Amino acid sequence: TTAKILAFAGSARHDSINKKLVKIAVEGAKAAGAEVTYLDFRDLPLPLYDEDLEEAEGLPENVLKLKALLKAHQGFLIASPEYNSSITPLLKNAIDWASRSEPGEPPLACFNEKVAVLMSASPGTLGGLRGLVHVRSILGNIGVLVLPDQQAIGNAHQAFDDNGNLKDEAKQASILQLGNKLATVAAKLNLPV
Ligand code: FNR
Repeated sequence: TTAKILAFAGSARHDSINKKLVKIAVEGAKAAGAEVTYLDFRDLPLPLYDEDLEEAEGLPENVLKLKALLKAHQGFLIASPEYNSSITPLLKNAIDWASRSEPGEPPLACFNEKVAVLMSASPGTLGGLRGLVHVRSILGNIGVLVLPDQQAIGNAHQAFDDNGNLKDEAKQASILQLGNKLATVAAKLNLPV
């Protein structure tokens, strides 16, 4: 079966290094035969989660779009920047909105029985590794099978060439491999969408 993968970064920034990183993994997933959708959160702005807002107006249209996207894919390729050693508010906000059910919908329908692979890029030496600990924990606690394979790319402002590839061949290969791994595992698991 063909794996259906949704790829996104936890940053809306135009020149985001995490967007660049996840796009490499997308190529790895495609090479392994997956169908990949790339989501840019710049194109899907979400209000800051507010329980009063949800109660008054229900889930915003862009949240419904996000939920539909998450549900329509078996696996998530996620590049998460590290903010103060943790997840970005953009990514946490998106997860929090998507975790909310509509009437009659089973709980955590966007996350249950999904598989994910994490990566990060940062200008620091640790590459955002400390933030991935939190992203892994959050996703694991809402039903996502987060694969043990992950990569954090440090000194990332100098790490990419003009084509968006990593100058270091071994690092480039490791990110392609993350995409390959997610595509391969998602296809084998044949998860429902
Ligand atoms: C950062 N940055 C950062 N980097 C890091 O390695 N560890 C950290 O704890 C933090 N903390 C942090 C907090 C805040 C509020 C900002 C705005 C930035 C730097 C961060 O890695 C850098 O801005 C990246 O370029 C962000 O990723 P994108 O947007 O380029 O994908």
